[in-house]
Amino acid sequence: MWGGRFAAGPASIMREINASIPFDKRLWKQDIAGSKAHVAMLAKQDIVSQADADAISAGLDTIAAEYEANGVPVDLDLEDIHMVTESRLAELIGPAAGRLHTARSRNDQVATDFRLWVRDAIDEVEAGLLGLQRALVARAEENADAVMPGFTHLQSAQPVTLGHHLMAYYEMVRRDRSRFSDARARADECPLGAAALAGTGFPTDRHATAAALGFAKPTDNSLDSVSDRDFALDYLMAATQASLHLSRLAEEFIIWASQPFGFVKLPDAYSTGSSIMPQKRNPDAAELVRGHAGRIMGCMTALCVTMKGLPLAYSKDMQDDKPPVFEAHDLLALSIAAMTGMVETVTFRTDRMRGLAESGFATATDLADWLVREGGIPFREAHHITGRAVAAAEAAAVPMDQLPMATLKEIDARIDERVYAVLTVDASVASRQSHGGTAPAQVRARIADAKRELGS
Ligand code: ARG
Repeated sequence: MWGGRFAAGPASIMREINASIPFDKRLWKQDIAGSKAHVAMLAKQDIVSQADADAISAGLDTIAAEYEANGVPVDLDLEDIHMVTESRLAELIGPAAGRLHTARSRNDQVATDFRLWVRDAIDEVEAGLLGLQRALVARAEENADAVMPGFTHLQSAQPVTLGHHLMAYYEMVRRDRSRFSDARARADECPLGAAALAGTGFPTDRHATAAALGFAKPTDNSLDSVSDRDFALDYLMAATQASLHLSRLAEEFIIWASQPFGFVKLPDAYSTGSSIMPQKRNPDAAELVRGHAGRIMGCMTALCVTMKGLPLAYSKDMQDDKPPVFEAHDLLALSIAAMTGMVETVTFRTDRMRGLAESGFATATDLADWLVREGGIPFREAHHITGRAVAAAEAAAVPMDQLPMATLKEIDARIDERVYAVLTVDASVASRQSHGGTAPAQVRARIADAKRELGS
């Protein structure tokens, strides 16, 4: 394709290091769409004849059908998807095929293909994340009143509801979706027609190709058009943060499924047994989601480092942009699907959660707050008094709400019978009515907001 001024062919090592077809064949649909939009514009602008454009377009349709049926042939000599397709076009329609590459370069071609691919990838991820949000909201609604221990430092802190806990992940995924849609909006400019780096002398219509490919507009600087990979980095950064959230949820499931916690029974479909210990039920899917997050972050780092310090405009380093994006996308899509499946089907052991919420002195703050409210005691002093009540409960091995009044009076005479109303876990969660708090009424209100937002 480019051998005009070369006397010898490439060394076989060169052929191997140069070729991107083994991975960029994944862009074939976008490549054909880009070429069809380009040749239609060339004909409309009288840059190629309508007859040649029709032959090229029909040939591209034939090639698409071939790829669909048999896959893309991997010929390292032809380097990449652009050349593999163009050379097949030449076989099919003859010399007219050579007119397709008028007024473009592989530099703007690949930037366009890749943007189209990332746009589709974002749509796929967004649909997956929407499904995850729906699953979280459904399970949160079922468990809006289910009391569990809330943790800080993984120590029992204050009782919360399981619905509240699950809705925390809803919020994370909501931000993830907004990052992906921001990324999509920024990617929505078409580099096609920037040509190699400087634009073209042919009377092209870049607005027409941008519109034909569903982009909002053409890019505004030809150098930037062919050297920019922000859209891929935006995708990877959004993917990194989404995978980070998924890995936190996965980690909770792993902890919750452990015997000392026993908060969940993971579904058979997402667990494996041990080949040696028959009692085992391993949370493999969750562990892999946790592990995949590391690989996705690695992909993000890889492309950042590839791009850093590259002078304008295109450099061949940039061919290495695609494997990390493809890898991250596959891992993310799988992680989203696995977490959604787990959220939908996990069994929550709410009796066990409640039992632990009641046993961890988690209502200590409620006693301190009551002393402030009812006794007018400064919070710091109330905290101290409560500390002694916790020590007494611990010594007697009873929950806070079962401490005898005599004991409480001994600790502080200002305590009276009314305190018992705030010491149960249900009273504790019900009292947290601040916006976004864990009170079941608040949780239900946020679930209603979420359902409105999700349109369900
Ligand atoms: N396969 C190349 C890539 O993915 C296409 C662009 C090649 N451009 C060039 N000037 N050699 O980056």
